[in-house]
Amino acid sequence: MKQVNIALFGMGRIGKIHFRNIEQHVPDARIVAVADPFLSGSPDGKNSNIFFSKNADEVIAMPEVDAILICTPTSSHADLIEKGIRNGKHIFCEKPMDLSLERTVVLSSMADDAGIKLMLGFNRRFDPDFMEAHKSVRAGAVGDVQVIKITSRDPGLPPIDYIKHSGGLFMDMAIHDFDMARYIMGKEVVEVFARGLNIIDKAVGEAGDIDTALTTLIFEDGTYAVIDNSRKAVYGYDQRLEIFGGGGMIQVENNLHNRNVIYNEQGIRHSLPLDFFMDRYVHSYLNEMKLFVDALKNNKPMPAGGADALKATQIAYAAKMSVELGRSVKLSEVKVKPEKVR
Ligand SMILES: NC(=O)c1ccc[n+]([C@@H]2O[C@H](COP(=O)([O-])OP(=O)(O)OC[C@H]3O[C@@H](n4cnc5c(N)ncnc54)[C@H](O)[C@@H]3O)[C@@H](O)[C@H]2O)c1
Repeated sequence: MKQVNIALFGMGRIGKIHFRNIEQHVPDARIVAVADPFLSGSPDGKNSNIFFSKNADEVIAMPEVDAILICTPTSSHADLIEKGIRNGKHIFCEKPMDLSLERTVVLSSMADDAGIKLMLGFNRRFDPDFMEAHKSVRAGAVGDVQVIKITSRDPGLPPIDYIKHSGGLFMDMAIHDFDMARYIMGKEVVEVFARGLNIIDKAVGEAGDIDTALTTLIFEDGTYAVIDNSRKAVYGYDQRLEIFGGGGMIQVENNLHNRNVIYNEQGIRHSLPLDFFMDRYVHSYLNEMKLFVDALKNNKPMPAGGADALKATQIAYAAKMSVELGRSVKLSEVKVKPEKVR
């Protein structure tokens, strides 16, 4: 493949980030088409070479399209993946792949059978600081890892309508942290214990969700990950990681608006963390797009695929079950129902 021709579905918050990255920073790829039922006019406000349609089916069938980026609401991912596979397109899909474990399994194997490359948008794997931490762990910098702690707090609630269709805090938000825990530890989770609260806004509870959660993951060798999620941290987007092992500790601190530290009579002060995912994960979104395109151009495996989607989704289910049942849940209890795997 000389240059990868991409069609993008969904020009919302995340779609715009991928659009800009491909257009401006990935010379081996170009956007040839955009589909979004609620967008009127050209997607970038100027580029008339990009075909624009409100009809996803029309775009997915375009013969010149090599790959599709699915940046639409979660409930539409699976249908678009299926159509992409049937039309022979390689696929990048935002997380989560689907809320159904069975559909996740079916689509992953459909893609494999059809020789379609499928990547999931677990972008935090491609953040330079987290990649460095991963490398240090592999190089033995802190010995055998015993516990990792992930703090992942959003700066504010998304719209309640978004929450209603998101699959809930574990599936929508903590799923990134579940993937991060597997990525750093390099082993599988066998048991999950979670507690959840609705203390930020009653409307979240009325929508059937929680806004605050603590989750403990137990890995196959008995080691732990502890994950602390909140939908609202008043000081900004709080994204921290600590890795503790027999030989030391790695800390990844928040990225701040600037690195000035002001000392005066009132105290010592530095600036707040970056605002949200759009600025905190600028580099990770770009890296993941470059890796997606590189895997297509050079026929390499995708760095986060259907198997990773399934594992993270299973952990999210186990966490939800744990909150509901008030006990820890073994991952083996979260079964893929064979009768639903068509
Ligand atoms: N990786 C990340 O950090 C990250 C961050 C935000 C969102 N997401 C994920 O990305 C997805 C989209 O989230 P968002 O916040 O950008 O949502 P959004 O509501 O801002 O944007 C979704 C866009 O998709 C369009 N759309 C709806 N149905 C469509 C269809 N069938 N075909 C084409 N376009 C369609 C909508 O008009 C809208 O413009 C969600 O699955 C979410 O979980 C991932």
